[in-house]
Amino acid sequence: MILALETSCDETCAAVMTPAGELLSNVISSQLDHARFGGVVPEIAARHHLELINGVVDKALGDADIELDQVNTIAVTQGPGLVGALLIGLASAKAFAAPRRLPLVPVDHLYGHIASNFVDGPPQFPFICLIASGGHTLLLRVTAPTEFELLGSTLDDAAGEAFDKGARLLGFPYPGGAALSQCATQGDPASFNFPTASRVKGLDFSFAGLKTALLYKVRELGPNEAERRRNGLAAAYEEAIVETIALRVKRALAIYPNDSIAICGGVAANARLRERIKGMASVVSIPALELCTDNAAMIAAGSRYIEPLSYPDYLQLEVYSTSELRQRRI
Ligand code: KG4
Ligand code: ZN
Repeated sequence: MILALETSCDETCAAVMTPAGELLSNVISSQLDHARFGGVVPEIAARHHLELINGVVDKALGDADIELDQVNTIAVTQGPGLVGALLIGLASAKAFAAPRRLPLVPVDHLYGHIASNFVDGPPQFPFICLIASGGHTLLLRVTAPTEFELLGSTLDDAAGEAFDKGARLLGFPYPGGAALSQCATQGDPASFNFPTASRVKGLDFSFAGLKTALLYKVRELGPNEAERRRNGLAAAYEEAIVETIALRVKRALAIYPNDSIAICGGVAANARLRERIKGMASVVSIPALELCTDNAAMIAAGSRYIEPLSYPDYLQLEVYSTSELRQRRI
């Protein structure tokens, strides 16, 4: 049995998975009190993880109907993320593993997002994989469970950041991506014409121009009119983010026409993006909604493909704030 922990940002997560990959439980405790600060406050996040982690692990074991003694492997997010938040997860993982002399598997958070597509068994290789989260937007070609080439990444904001900044401009509380998307269902995407960075050549993304375009449009309309036309603004803005992404996926498919597509990360929970991507290739892998935003099931799924560290080798392990996945450019 694998017990996996994920604490890279503001969600305290634990999951239990069988060695064969069957997901037995997936517990996510979200820290809602960051909204009033307009973003995640690292110190508060770390303190909450410390308070929540044992209860979340108990619930994951309970939901899986197993005892801690039945766990044979501990998996944990090592990075990237907020250092203080990651530290609580890694220290907890060591504390669960070391007294029992269990092996420990450190998992990269971005690799975990890719592995959210492996929960029901990996898709056929090779596939083009979009990671779109609050902190990262990467396009990769995954050729084997742990082998990938970086095809493109964002030149400025991440896709989730673009959603959240747009949401803030339209008056939604942090993180706002899901709320903006909900509002967009009531509006017409053709109400406004926002840019999709089509002049940025190749497979890199850019969202900064789009965010500025929304800012200017909201200013031009003025507060009352912007409020009155909020649904249309949200729909057109969401459409532009989805089309910015779709254009890069299309370009990647033109290079690798036989590849399938997978998407992952919080933005992969977006209904409009999910629909758009489904129409782009004959084989498309899209994780269940609860596996898109941060969770420990994806860390458990990723850990099955990584060599575990034995006791006491992992006691020296440290967290990291940026991922080397971002540098693996072809
Ligand atoms: O992967 P994730 O949970 O955390 C990071 O690793 O960053 O992604 C969080 C991001 C946030 O920016 C959030 O607004 C966005 O995913 N998000 C969405 C939706 N659900 C979450 N964006 C658009 N539509 C959604 N339904
Ligand atoms: Zn994430």
